[in-house]
This record gives sequence, C-alpha cells and structure tokens, in this order.
Amino acid sequence: MPPNDEELITRARNAQKNAYAPFSQFKVGAALLTDNGKIYSGCNVENSTYGATNCAERTAIFTAVCDGARNFQKIVVVTDREDPVMPCGICRNVLFEFSPKMEIIAVGASGNTERIQLSALFPKGFRLEKKQEKEV
Ligand code: THU
Repeated sequence: MPPNDEELITRARNAQKNAYAPFSQFKVGAALLTDNGKIYSGCNVENSTYGATNCAERTAIFTAVCDGARNFQKIVVVTDREDPVMPCGICRNVLFEFSPKMEIIAVGASGNTERIQLSALFPKGFRLEKKQEKEV
C-alpha cells in the first residue's frame, strides 16, 4: 500500500523537530514521496551567513537524489503558521527540475491544507536541455 498523506505529514512533522532555525525561529519540515512509494524527509538548516541556509524542501530532495531517486509524486510541507506555506522560489525550481507534475501539499499548524500541482504554482520554470550523464 502506498503511504497516505497522514503518514507524510507525520514524517514532515518529525523532521520539523530537527530544524536548525536559530535565526528565523521558523521551523519547516518536508516529506517527499517518490514514484516508488519511498519517503524522504527534510528540515531547514540555517547558517550564520544566512545565504547558505537550506530549506526543508531542498534538504529532502537532495537526500532523495543522493539515494538514487529522481521521480516524485508529491511533497508535504509543514510549518507552525496557521496558513499553509508554499515552497520558496528556489525550491520550486529545484522540484521542477525533477518532477514538474508533482503535487505540493502545504499544511498549517492546525491542519489547514492547501494542494496545488507544481506546474500550476510554477509555470514555465527554467530548465536546461539535458546531456547524457556520465556513468561512474
Ligand atoms: N524555509 C523553508 O525551509 N522552506 C520554505 O518553503 C520557506 C522558507 C526556511 C528557510 C529559513 O530557514 C526560514 O524558513 C525562514 O526563511
């Protein structure tokens, strides 16, 4: 059975607990579901330089890619804000690189949920033509 959205929300909430956000105090958790039913979670990791900060969504997707996954069905993003928070522009482009048709599910503190397909949230995203990848 593929994991349901409740399971993804639980995974995202667990990751959110590990968020390193001493500067913004804004903790974010994400759970990414691959086409094969695997889940990868992520949290935001801030940095004293500010610019090196990594969002929860990118932590999840980079972890997934490192594990060999490249096709994604959906991502759940959770915060402690009442209103659901959608991925930032950089994360939208990173998600778009792999799965433009994936679903974004943003969940607020009390469970308010907003769903949208990435291609609707981020139409005409930037992509380069892919070249043959070198095997190692
Ligand atoms: N952040 C995320 O992790 N995901 C988003 O979609 C929005 C912003 C993080 C980055 C930073 O650590 C904090 O939230 C405030 O911008």
